[in-house]
Amino acid sequence: MSDTRLNDEEGEAPSAAVLVGAGGSVARHGTSLGEVIVHIVATHHAALRIQLPRLRDLIDDVVAGASPQTAQELSELHPLYSRLLAEVGGNLSHEEQLVFPAILRIQHRTTIPACQAGMVASRVRLATAEHRRISDLLAKMRELSARHLSPSGPCETCHALQGMLSEIEAGMREHDRLEREGVFGPAVELEARLGAGDARGVSR
Ligand SMILES: [Fe+2]
Repeated sequence: MSDTRLNDEEGEAPSAAVLVGAGGSVARHGTSLGEVIVHIVATHHAALRIQLPRLRDLIDDVVAGASPQTAQELSELHPLYSRLLAEVGGNLSHEEQLVFPAILRIQHRTTIPACQAGMVASRVRLATAEHRRISDLLAKMRELSARHLSPSGPCETCHALQGMLSEIEAGMREHDRLEREGVFGPAVELEARLGAGDARGVSR
């Protein structure tokens, strides 16, 4: 992961609160919201777009190789995957086309009219709920495949599926944390301050 460290310039947005370090850590620093967003899209969103087709292939392998006793239950992985695909696609589009642009727009504003107050907070709540649904679906897939895992169960290919699910779940945890701490939290705070007529710390 590249180091996206930026300036410590005084007066940066409160936004500016997060540094994505070379080890993926997040620290208080002078990184702008825009830079954290670019990092999230280039790493976490891009990773999901690569991982989901690999996950589908692994599910196909698991279901194709399932024993007669387990085939019916393991085939439930397909509808779970379809729901996951729809949720992830919806979340990435929602964030990239609506949430992040809305956040970037308020970064350079000094006030927010009453009719627009709370829009960022509302979009953030939706995006957070989307993340929860994605995590729940991943957990269901992991639990389902774990029930048939060899050597106690018959499923050899479930090991590879478990590994892929663990990788995606770990990425989602970091993705969620970075968005909450590095983007959503500061943006909601900024929106509330701008709505209250307090433009301190807004970058120009
Ligand atoms: Fe995201």
